[in-house]
Amino acid sequence: MSKLTRRSFGITGLAALGAFGRSRTAIAAPDPIVLKAAPSKAQIAPSDYPETALWSYNGRVPGPELRVAQGKMFRMRLENALPEQGTTIHWHGVRLPNAMDGVPNITQPPVMPGETFEYRFAPPDAGTFWYHPHMNSVEQISRGLSGVLIVEEAEPPEVDRDLTLVIDDWRMTQDAQIHDSFGDRHDLSHAGRLGNYVTVNGRFQWGESVRAGDRLRLRLVNTATARIFTMRAEGLRLWVTALDGMPLAQPLEVSELTLAPAQRIDVIADVTAEPSSEALLASIERGGDFLLASFVTGNQQRRAKRGSPAPFPPNTHPEPDLSEARDVALVMEGGAMRGLPDGALFNGQIMGMRALVDNEQFWAFNGVAGMAEAPLIEARVGETIRIAIENRTAFPHAQHLHGYHSRLLEPDGSMGVWRDTVLVNPNEKREIAFVAQTPGDWMFHCHMLSHQIAGMMTWIRVTA
Ligand code: C2O
Ligand code: CU
Repeated sequence: MSKLTRRSFGITGLAALGAFGRSRTAIAAPDPIVLKAAPSKAQIAPSDYPETALWSYNGRVPGPELRVAQGKMFRMRLENALPEQGTTIHWHGVRLPNAMDGVPNITQPPVMPGETFEYRFAPPDAGTFWYHPHMNSVEQISRGLSGVLIVEEAEPPEVDRDLTLVIDDWRMTQDAQIHDSFGDRHDLSHAGRLGNYVTVNGRFQWGESVRAGDRLRLRLVNTATARIFTMRAEGLRLWVTALDGMPLAQPLEVSELTLAPAQRIDVIADVTAEPSSEALLASIERGGDFLLASFVTGNQQRRAKRGSPAPFPPNTHPEPDLSEARDVALVMEGGAMRGLPDGALFNGQIMGMRALVDNEQFWAFNGVAGMAEAPLIEARVGETIRIAIENRTAFPHAQHLHGYHSRLLEPDGSMGVWRDTVLVNPNEKREIAFVAQTPGDWMFHCHMLSHQIAGMMTWIRVTA
């Protein structure tokens, strides 16, 4: 196990700091809550740095934590006070009517500055979700626009604390301002916009006071546009209880967690650290592990005897029927090292590599870069679709299908976990299967967002 360092990912010269605090907005039912997207400033760098100019929802980074009861109507009014550009909100992983999905020019017109849009839906699945703009999203998310949506179980699992950890990766200048290299061609063609400063809940090395022996529910959310986090803990015993908001049939005890961009993991964490000490969550890094969050134990010990945690109540999704499945192949190609030697179709035209690069297109799905005129597949409600996602590039990709969770199939073809965002490593092939449910046009794209804008996106159409 490599040594823990508090320094990697710090802006050069950063002091180690533990900071406390989080934001939460409780939602009383009927009135729409308002999320105003606007420029703001916040101290996300340590205190010897200046405040960072950001774009945020209601002046908070991360945005307000929204909580809604499972199955209950939720209304949210987006107000756009951003400088000179439209925006939308996408509710990542939530099953909702297509018109509420927040994809500009596909499910709604962009919300222009001074305009508003009301989102309304009753989330059928309880769990940890998140929201973010779906327009100019490399820039809008990198500047601070995103937040967590928690859909509460009618009977929440019994824990001592329910804590949300929003993990984000920022590319900052030396004076702690957001680096404006949003369309950088190296990022587009390599691993995306990796940052140089990591926060949890908008803080450097976030911390929280707990008791030795506490049982915590940790909701881990990766809102970074490119960085994959692999984490380990000290002084915590971890069970994965839900992935992307979907409870596992049985909690799974783990020593490491991998969280790709846009993914969520709910874990039950029992604090095994002694009283008056500290438990840690660290990111495993080549140059020495980096502290993400600390859980400082007071001098009390909680002495409840506890067994392994029980599974969370399941969300009920229709099960894919593989014997009837329609098969679709999705081949990812392109990017640095491998390129698109045969060119690709872009905006209806076959282009060679050079022309694609001139259009800032580096990646393709099935030989098509960017949004194709025709959907990847047209499905009818009730049909089972199985997509074989093959990564022929030299980079990992986190693929997200809007509107549906899919079963990730095991290598032997059996049903695996539900996910809405699937990490596919280089030279790997992963199959997903889902039942088409809600009619509409649903996007499918890489959640390394620099890849999305540089070619990796398509869509499916579901008809009644
Ligand atoms: Cu989280 Cu299409 O996005
Ligand atoms: Cu990608």
